Amino acid sequence: MNEQDRIDDLEALDDQPVTRPGHGPALPRRSVLKGGLGAAVAGFFTAPLAGCGQSGSSPAMPLIGFSPLPPQTNMTFDRVHVPEGYSARVLYAWGDPIRQGAPAWQADGSNDWQQQMQQAGDNHDGMHFFPFDDSPNQRGLLVINHEKVALNFLHPQGPTFTRDANGRRQRPEAEVKKEQAAHGVSVIEVRRSEDGQWQREMDSRYNRRITGMTAMALRGPAAGTDALKTASDPQGTTVLGTIANCAMGFTPWGTYLTCEENWPNYFVNRDQHDYRQRVAHQRYRLSQGDNSKYFAWESVDLRFDATPYPEQPHGGHVNEPNRFGWVVEIDPFDPHSTPIKRTAMGRLVRECATPSVGPDGRMAFYFGDDTRGEYIYKFVPAGRYQPDNRAANRHLLDEGALYVGVFGDKGKGQWKPLVFGEGPLTEANGFSGQAQVLIEARRAADLLGATTMDRPEWVAVKPDNREVYVTLTNNDQRGRRDDQPINSANPRWDNQHGHILRWREQDDDPAATTFQWELFMLAGYPQDADVPANQIGTIQGDIFSSPDGLWFDPQGRLWIETDYDEDSPDHRAMGTNQLLCANPYSGEVKRFLVGPKGCEVTGITGTPDGTTLWINIQHPTLSFPASDGVTRPRSATVVITRDDGGVVGS
Ligand code: FEO
Ligand code: CA
Ligand code: CA
Repeated sequence: MNEQDRIDDLEALDDQPVTRPGHGPALPRRSVLKGGLGAAVAGFFTAPLAGCGQSGSSPAMPLIGFSPLPPQTNMTFDRVHVPEGYSARVLYAWGDPIRQGAPAWQADGSNDWQQQMQQAGDNHDGMHFFPFDDSPNQRGLLVINHEKVALNFLHPQGPTFTRDANGRRQRPEAEVKKEQAAHGVSVIEVRRSEDGQWQREMDSRYNRRITGMTAMALRGPAAGTDALKTASDPQGTTVLGTIANCAMGFTPWGTYLTCEENWPNYFVNRDQHDYRQRVAHQRYRLSQGDNSKYFAWESVDLRFDATPYPEQPHGGHVNEPNRFGWVVEIDPFDPHSTPIKRTAMGRLVRECATPSVGPDGRMAFYFGDDTRGEYIYKFVPAGRYQPDNRAANRHLLDEGALYVGVFGDKGKGQWKPLVFGEGPLTEANGFSGQAQVLIEARRAADLLGATTMDRPEWVAVKPDNREVYVTLTNNDQRGRRDDQPINSANPRWDNQHGHILRWREQDDDPAATTFQWELFMLAGYPQDADVPANQIGTIQGDIFSSPDGLWFDPQGRLWIETDYDEDSPDHRAMGTNQLLCANPYSGEVKRFLVGPKGCEVTGITGTPDGTTLWINIQHPTLSFPASDGVTRPRSATVVITRDDGGVVGS
């Protein structure tokens, strides 16, 4: 591909499905589904599953009360629209100063990397609101991931790529540093003023940027092992930066979990022979050409060159990729704390780390590995959450069991432990210990017979009964590749529009090793639409494709965010990316928000009383949020409230 193609491709780091020839617009849908896949969908609450403690009966009040929006099919649309009676306002956009006195954003992109370190990062993604105990609905910390950078807009004239004598791509150091500074996490304090408007607290002591250069600790079974040692860190315990911070999680003890997703794109191993036998590279699809996939950071920051150099200590930086792909725990309430990469939770192309807490303090953290045909996992800490002892919870994520999901027929599910010495995870199969099992978690999961999934993205846990929902965003290889055959949990050939699946753990115990699952909804077009059969869904209400962000509000509404290419003929009738609200009991879906052209709608969190919702608009392509047709577009956090102060969505 040529240089421009590579740059355009940066907008699609989350690999989008291949587009297909055009089909007609969506037609009115039938309200009743008959037979086939439809019969397998949304049966949970009419016929409670055997072994489930609660039926999850629907509340007396209607859950969803707003008038839904039509799809936004105007491809010059450059705003956020919400239903009548609601307001949406930009609170925190790329380049905004992190605190009082930090440099202002320059509309020509001329802020340098030191300034970017003190400003909002780019490509806002997963996010969580941590309320203050004394005024939980008026004051708190918003913690926001910055997944990647929009290269064409980050720099004044776009990125600079040159080639050296070997034909390898080269970058200016100042640009690379600015890109690293625009990755990571923001912590910002927000406060609701007397007039009900949310404002940032610019002089808050909590305001903080964590970037692709911030020093962080490695802990857990893999920390300090040879596989984590590099020429720069011979101890294998300290790593610079977190990158590709996609979705997230949080802990009940008030820490944030940022998750490293598409990190393999940032590394290259140029030694073809070494690459083929190095599972920690090859199974995660690091680049093996001249350069890393997109940014060519390795041309100035040697730790991103993961080619082995035997003459250097620890082979140079061949192990640097082993130091990414983890959950990173951040204490937002201690602005001087060191972020910690928790190796016990496994090394994946990880989307999120969603907690589920049982009444006895036992926990699970759920996450998927967002690549076609990869798996769904959970981590069960060995210890229990102690609500009255924050110090005792501090390192709970260092010890516990990592499991991978087997989604069998008839809704039967099993969690298989990734424990060295158990089952096939032995020396005979090339594992030297638990550290290697965690670093090569994908290979371990292969051996355990895990079920290949259609790109698992976010996980949401229903607050009243700990039922777990996951978005499988899409997978155009399903049924096309021998290693990704159609299965009952991923039932659509060439799954263009994705689906949502849900399960209940045995006895609703987060630590259970068996569960019951079912399909909640297949996204796509109505039954009678003039589209190929694999694009027909089971949505009762407003159509969408490629569910990604997923979140339960405190009252049990299920919010669904989308990430698809609205320019593709397969998606045109669905309009720009959107936020929808679903009733988990009835399956009813209503469109709540439509975003500006080019964006992904992602990140979602709210106040405990449900009166405020925050979402993120990631990588808009026109001029949002200025929306003046001139200013370069910026990813941004948007705050949504009801004009009458009521609960959002009700
Ligand atoms: Fe960054 Fe899988 O989304
Ligand atoms: Ca995502
Ligand atoms: Ca996505």
